[in-house]
Amino acid sequence: MKLLVLNGPNLNLLGQREPDIYGHETLADIENGLRRQALAAGVDIDFLQTNHEGELIERIHAARQEADAIIINPAAWSHTSVALLDALNAFEGRVVEVHLSNIHQREAFRHHSYVSARADGVIAGLGSFGYQAALDFLLRC
Ligand code: DQA
Repeated sequence: MKLLVLNGPNLNLLGQREPDIYGHETLADIENGLRRQALAAGVDIDFLQTNHEGELIERIHAARQEADAIIINPAAWSHTSVALLDALNAFEGRVVEVHLSNIHQREAFRHHSYVSARADGVIAGLGSFGYQAALDFLLRC
């Protein structure tokens, strides 16, 4: 399996950014854990975090030829971006959406995610374990 792990805006600040909500682990910690899990399972894994929506969309377009599955934390673009939904709709592999926090317990504007309409599964509120659970899910089916 070829897997792409995408993280949207401000997630480069994990560990420093609102740690009471998002935890103390950095994005590098999360990616290193996933890298180990992928290596053990024989999964080819690639990562992108970006604060630029167009860059994320172009990476999803490239994934149409390259990847079997995407794990994505779209961060704030979950709640705003039809363009991101459209890009994921053009990707034929599996998609798992991950949020560190439980977006349904938070402000009303976070309750809706455009990406969820495309995702095969959605994980919210499990902290960084959500990424591991997403990979575990992809390995099982
Ligand atoms: C987030 C939740 C979003 O509402 C927020 O904009 C983020 C992170 C999460 O992982 O909990 O940046 O996707």
